[in-house]
Amino acid sequence: MNARKGIILAGGSGTRLYPITMGLSKQLLPIYDKPMIYYPLSVLMLAGIREIALITTPQDQDQFRRLLGDGGQWGLSFTYIVQPEPEGLAQAYLLARDFLDGAPSAMVLGDNIFFGHGLPELLAAAEAQPEGGTVFGYRVADPERYGVVDFDAQGRARAIIEKPVQPPSRYAVTGLYFLDGSAPERAARVEKSARGELEITTLLEMYLAEGLLNVQQMGRGFAWLDTGTHASLLDAGNFVRTLSERQGQQIGSPDEIAFQQGWISAEALRARAETFRKNDYGAYLLQLSGLE
Ligand code: TTP
Repeated sequence: MNARKGIILAGGSGTRLYPITMGLSKQLLPIYDKPMIYYPLSVLMLAGIREIALITTPQDQDQFRRLLGDGGQWGLSFTYIVQPEPEGLAQAYLLARDFLDGAPSAMVLGDNIFFGHGLPELLAAAEAQPEGGTVFGYRVADPERYGVVDFDAQGRARAIIEKPVQPPSRYAVTGLYFLDGSAPERAARVEKSARGELEITTLLEMYLAEGLLNVQQMGRGFAWLDTGTHASLLDAGNFVRTLSERQGQQIGSPDEIAFQQGWISAEALRARAETFRKNDYGAYLLQLSGLE
């Protein structure tokens, strides 16, 4: 079977975070002790995905390459793709068409942070679905800012509405999309919306119309954090700090996940720890590798 490939969509203009993002990509900003993109990358790795395309703006690509390299340090393989203009989330499937080469995909937005007990199991269930797609519905206080799920009387999704004035439910679709190999072909049929974007909701609606979209609830035990505004960026950092300090465990560490998945050896992990020897992250990795 064609193994599922990953996409991290890390372009966009980040205008809500101006002036910070006037000189730096949003997805490179710190979430406490790690760059933002480590967190969505970790989600794909937890789903067992090793071939990943990183979509960035033309001006930011070099910095992502400097940070992440070719992925070999984690037993991964990265392909870099440029999005010339931020023309919408569905455009990612057009840009990644050759990379995907017919394979099913999991796309995650580069500014989305997920955390929760049972996340690997949730991802494994989505991964195991051979046809159609899976997206996750998460209850939020401000659904009008997102794509919102409209459920029928049986609790099945019947529509997804982008930024509705009158939200039909409180369930927003998160920025994590498991779609089958037909996504690029379908994305080619998406027309631009009134705001000039190729909307992911239009693509998802195509799957929904054919009964091929599973809207899985991500329950209250999970955290799905926003990082798009000054306050939410700081809140996300504080969340990561509070939890990781209390538990003495890292959140969103590609090094730890690569080791646990058996993609890198204890020696390779130790070499990574050496890079970070001046901080707690290095000490944590060293401890993981079996040496303290
Ligand atoms: P948004 O938060 O909708 O947009 P943005 O990041 O440009 O921020 P702002 O609203 O402050 O201007 O984007 C969600 C994610 O998707 C984010 O990680 C950026 C990314 N994105 C792209 O990579 N390409 C795109 O065409 C769009 C619309 C978003």
